[in-house]
Amino acid sequence: MGYNRQQLIEAVSSQMPEKRWLHTQGVMDTAVKLAEQYGANPEKADLAAILHDVAKYWTVQKLEEVLVSNGYQGDLLQYDKPLWHAEVGAIVAERDYGITDPEVLDAIRYHTSGRVGMTLLDKIVCLADYMEPGRDFPGVNNIRELANHSLEEALIAGFDSTISFLITRKQIIYPRMLLARNDLIKQLEANS
Ligand SMILES: [Fe+2]
Ligand SMILES: [Fe+2]
Repeated sequence: MGYNRQQLIEAVSSQMPEKRWLHTQGVMDTAVKLAEQYGANPEKADLAAILHDVAKYWTVQKLEEVLVSNGYQGDLLQYDKPLWHAEVGAIVAERDYGITDPEVLDAIRYHTSGRVGMTLLDKIVCLADYMEPGRDFPGVNNIRELANHSLEEALIAGFDSTISFLITRKQIIYPRMLLARNDLIKQLEANS
């Protein structure tokens, strides 16, 4: 069954508190602007942004059930639960909302961790999630400034902030995020 944009917005916003919907709107606006700035498809950026946190407030049981029932083979279940909503978001975007575009599904799937070989759309949605206007954490303004000239530099700064935060809290770092960060650094070096 196909959902039009308005139906999707209604379906997604009804699954989260007001605060998270405001964040999602910020990610939508920011992702569209970044898409226009960096030559990605703004409609795909908008669609991925609408859906990126659809499963953010689902219970851990429900998240696990979706992963297991879809035969999820990755390593996510061994890592922190806040990471699970991204993979589940991609699964439900396809299963429940009829999104078939792999670029959009991947941008949802990798919006928290990144990955090696991030597509332009992956980078845009992940970065928009870090820097939308409602975000307020140490270093966010630096990320916004870097985004004026380099998606990669801005994203590296975003991952650095997450990784530093996890280190100070003695929390586990999901290896895919480190690999994504290393890969972005290599991309920058290759282009310099
Ligand atoms: Fe998220
Ligand atoms: Fe988000």
